[in-house]
Amino acid sequence: MKADSEETFLTDELLKWRSEFPILDHTVYLISHSLGAMPSATYERLHEYAETWATRGVRAWAEGWWDMPVTVGGEVGRIIGADPGSVVMHQNVSICQSLVLSCLEPTARRNKIVYSELNFPSVMYVYEAHARDGKLRITTVKSDDGITVPLERMLEAIDEETLLVPFSHVLFKSAFLQDAKAITERAHEVGAKVVLDTYQSAGTVPFSVKDLNVDFATGGSVKWLCGGPGAGYLYVRPDLQLKLEPKTTGWMAHEDPFAFDTNLRYAPGIARFLHGSPAIPALYAAESGYKIINDIGVERIREKSVRQTTRLIELAKEAGFQVTSPSDPARRGGTFTIGHEKAAAITRELVRREFIVDYRPGAGVRISPHFYTSDEELELTVREMKNIRDTRAFAPEVAGAAF
Ligand SMILES: Cc1ncc(COP(=O)(O)O)c(C=O)c1O
Repeated sequence: MKADSEETFLTDELLKWRSEFPILDHTVYLISHSLGAMPSATYERLHEYAETWATRGVRAWAEGWWDMPVTVGGEVGRIIGADPGSVVMHQNVSICQSLVLSCLEPTARRNKIVYSELNFPSVMYVYEAHARDGKLRITTVKSDDGITVPLERMLEAIDEETLLVPFSHVLFKSAFLQDAKAITERAHEVGAKVVLDTYQSAGTVPFSVKDLNVDFATGGSVKWLCGGPGAGYLYVRPDLQLKLEPKTTGWMAHEDPFAFDTNLRYAPGIARFLHGSPAIPALYAAESGYKIINDIGVERIREKSVRQTTRLIELAKEAGFQVTSPSDPARRGGTFTIGHEKAAAITRELVRREFIVDYRPGAGVRISPHFYTSDEELELTVREMKNIRDTRAFAPEVAGAAF
């Protein structure tokens, strides 16, 4: 779908990246909170992977594959402001959360996990499952509106009995941006650790895990990083690394894996947070997205994102929609949400018309412009939503999310 006038191209420098994303030719793609658009360069990278396997065979491990979880982790590290040697790649956030927990030892006195009820459910499943043996207790911080989590309530829940605070930087449903610094400071004040879920912030909100002083951070590449599935990352603060011995482990965490030693001796750096053989194709697929994000810079992406989500709020209000994401841009990530009793059905009809957005219960229609989105696409989307609502051009029976 060609939705861009010459004028927009002249005033919005980031639109030059549109030609790198094939899906933008035939859709209005506003779903970077779920699956960011694939860069064309990913075709070549995946071909390169197949070519390497086909021609170099097993030698590929020694020629780069083995080190990829750490070398690719370094590229993500640049996006999240981490020092070299402090990020490794894994499959997803859920496994990274388990790995973090496996580094810690709950005691009779310090065994509390604190998180908000608006955390991503998969993350909660990990801690709830581990709490079943009675060695951990979970404190869930309530939200009053299903959109925000009061900072004071979060800080109050973190006390001397807290072992770990796994919290989202940007909430997946409402895009509420949490005060990661204040939560981390409070945790450290009482001797607890934090693991920051940066899935919905990395690549759209500038931050530095170093400045935030978090103990751990984890996220994936599927969304704002345009890197596709299977390329999750884990940051561990450099001064903590040698003090931790993860129980979720494997031969890649060994200091000399090819010695096939029967005793585990942990690697002296970030590699000790690996486990078994890595998902090499996913790492090849992810790199072109990181390169583009690093080339543009997250500051510029954020500047445009704030402008476009603010514009979307104006357009939605003019069209009589209820906006459910935070109105203060300083407390909002890259997503904008619209509540409506028929939000699920409107979403399906939008997708059928090639406006790619999604729906989440409690939040409504989720819409995410990214650096490749034109202003004209925002106008077209809200106009289409209004048209669908006003003409009731949707299937009446639709209730849940399609993806
Ligand atoms: C904040 C947040 N955390 C985690 C996930 C996904 O976790 P995983 O990588 O385990 O699939 C998502 C995905 O939607 C998310 O939005």
